[in-house]
Amino acid sequence: MSKISFLGAGSWGTALAIMLAKKGHQVTLWSKVEAEVSMLLENREHKERLPGVKLPDSIVITTDLEAACSGQELLVFAVASPFVRSVAKEAAAYILPGQKIVNVAKGIEEQSLDTLRDILAEELSQADISVLSGPSHAEEVAIGMPTTVVVGSASKATAIFIQEIFMNEAFRVYISPDIIGIELGGSVKNVIALAAGVCDGLGFGDNTKAALITRGIAEISRLGVAMGAKMETLGGLSGIGDLIVTCTSKHSRNHNAGYYIGKGYSVEEALAKVNQVVEGVHSAKAVSRLAKKYQVSMPIVEQICKVLFEGDNVDNAIKNLLTRDKCMEYPDLGWIEAD
Ligand SMILES: NC(=O)c1ccc[n+]([C@@H]2O[C@H](COP(=O)([O-])OP(=O)(O)OC[C@H]3O[C@@H](n4cnc5c(N)ncnc54)[C@H](O)[C@@H]3O)[C@@H](O)[C@H]2O)c1
Repeated sequence: MSKISFLGAGSWGTALAIMLAKKGHQVTLWSKVEAEVSMLLENREHKERLPGVKLPDSIVITTDLEAACSGQELLVFAVASPFVRSVAKEAAAYILPGQKIVNVAKGIEEQSLDTLRDILAEELSQADISVLSGPSHAEEVAIGMPTTVVVGSASKATAIFIQEIFMNEAFRVYISPDIIGIELGGSVKNVIALAAGVCDGLGFGDNTKAALITRGIAEISRLGVAMGAKMETLGGLSGIGDLIVTCTSKHSRNHNAGYYIGKGYSVEEALAKVNQVVEGVHSAKAVSRLAKKYQVSMPIVEQICKVLFEGDNVDNAIKNLLTRDKCMEYPDLGWIEAD
């Protein structure tokens, strides 16, 4: 069994830590947020995010970053995306050359347009960095519901190492070399999930949801392919799989934020009601800038940005989407012209 440390003790870090500790790994759970660590130490339970799920006694909980980073076979980055860079900068002094790290957070940095793996590779260039993503709500993983994810790594040996650490009878792990495909699917789906929430808040039905998911993956795929991702990945667990779960689930904070906006709350009120980091909002501007940079059309992302940042109302956004110029579903599919 392996020594594994989690940096970040929110719902996802805590759920995965519990799962790995139950498998017999020696697990440490670190958080910079002192109130979070006190709550975990006092109750052996993440009362706010995973109520009713106890942490195994073997899990060490700490705010000591040096101790958390030292002597670990694997470091799991599970901090909310806006804090990945600052935590990586702080951890850099304690990370040895060749340290295996897997990032399980999702997002794109607004200023740099870097993916989270790009950030880690920049701040921790001495480390061997992989990603893990897929349709996986912490609330379900923490209680052992069947779940599938994919690990992306530049090295097949590292991918297999991480696969073996995480895999159990209820948590199936696939491996892939397509890191950028995995990261893009996981990050852009949060923006589409906001739009899906808006549609639910407006009281729209299954047809609208199916349209958003399908045209959403078309947008994600256009950007992904332009950035070097593989279509197979975008049609896989970390692409369409994660998009479906986020657009349809009561656990999704992105969907919930969109829902309140659709119900008529202002963006600020909706974010206050969700009261957690809504990563889709952080990623939306970055994705819209990436779309411009790579010259791909992302109309859903464009409209959600107008609602989030320009005060446009949701009825206008829906109208704008539905009344765009007529077009083909996939422009590359042509007719064979008759002579
Ligand atoms: N929750 C899920 O079901 C789930 C599933 C798959 C992936 N993810 C991804 O994993 C990441 C973490 O998700 P989560 O639900 O645990 O998020 P979360 O909002 O609960 O936050 C995770 C942790 O980030 C850290 N953090 C918060 N503020 C910080 C600060 N100022 N400085 C340093 N660290 C700080 C804290 O340890 C916090 O608990 C996200 O990117 C999310 O998209 C979440």
